[in-house]
Amino acid sequence: MKINIVKNIDELSLLAARKIIERVRKQPTTVLGLATGSTPLGTYYKLVQDYRDNKTSYKHVTTFNLDEYVGLTSADQNSYNYYMREHLFKSININPNQTFLPNGVGIDPAIECDKYEAKISESGGIDLQILGLGENGHIGFNEPGTSFSSRTHVVSLAESTREANSRYFNSLSDVPTKAITMGIETIMEAREVLLLVSGERKAKVLREVLEGTITEKVPATVLRNHSNITIIADEAAVKCLTKHCQISS
Ligand code: F6R
Repeated sequence: MKINIVKNIDELSLLAARKIIERVRKQPTTVLGLATGSTPLGTYYKLVQDYRDNKTSYKHVTTFNLDEYVGLTSADQNSYNYYMREHLFKSININPNQTFLPNGVGIDPAIECDKYEAKISESGGIDLQILGLGENGHIGFNEPGTSFSSRTHVVSLAESTREANSRYFNSLSDVPTKAITMGIETIMEAREVLLLVSGERKAKVLREVLEGTITEKVPATVLRNHSNITIIADEAAVKCLTKHCQISS
């Protein structure tokens, strides 16, 4: 596990974008796993800037997002589909037919989960998975208590997660109660993982992730079992770590 500690979210975004760009240039057919939320926004912005300035090509890249709300169409401004289009896809030369998110409006969400798994396998698996970290330790929408052997599945969102995400909606009652998320085992199968952690509100959970027991109660602790993971964290996010843990290994 490598830990890159950077000053702030700007430096985090720059470093994360550099790693993604380097990967896409080296392997133009890269299969990227993508996250939404506030943490990767700056990273996506840097990818767009780099596309404008340096023309890094995404023509042969395929993407799979971690999750999508159940019940929101891709036209809904709060859907992750919309988020990805607005913040990244519409501003780079990626083929929209190669960008995948779980279908939250299919007739049977469980069938959509199986289809998503099949699509990931068909694409040869995820080369580089970008992750954010929930304050309760969730990754994707895998809330505390989710089995480490879970595959893509339908989840009921924890109240704390709905509250954290309500900032994007008109009110808490508008936040969907269900989502489809890649499972923990699905995430762990990515050949490389990049976990982005920013801000003081993540400091306690990052300490648990790095120093606590590996437990399904804190889903992100499973990442310690991944053989190729890099964490990029800013100074505010590492402030609860012991000195020992701040040293890259
Ligand atoms: C988003 C996702 C979530 C977020 C997490 C952190 O696709 O799967 O796990 O990564 O909730 O969100 P932010 O970055 O908003 O703090």
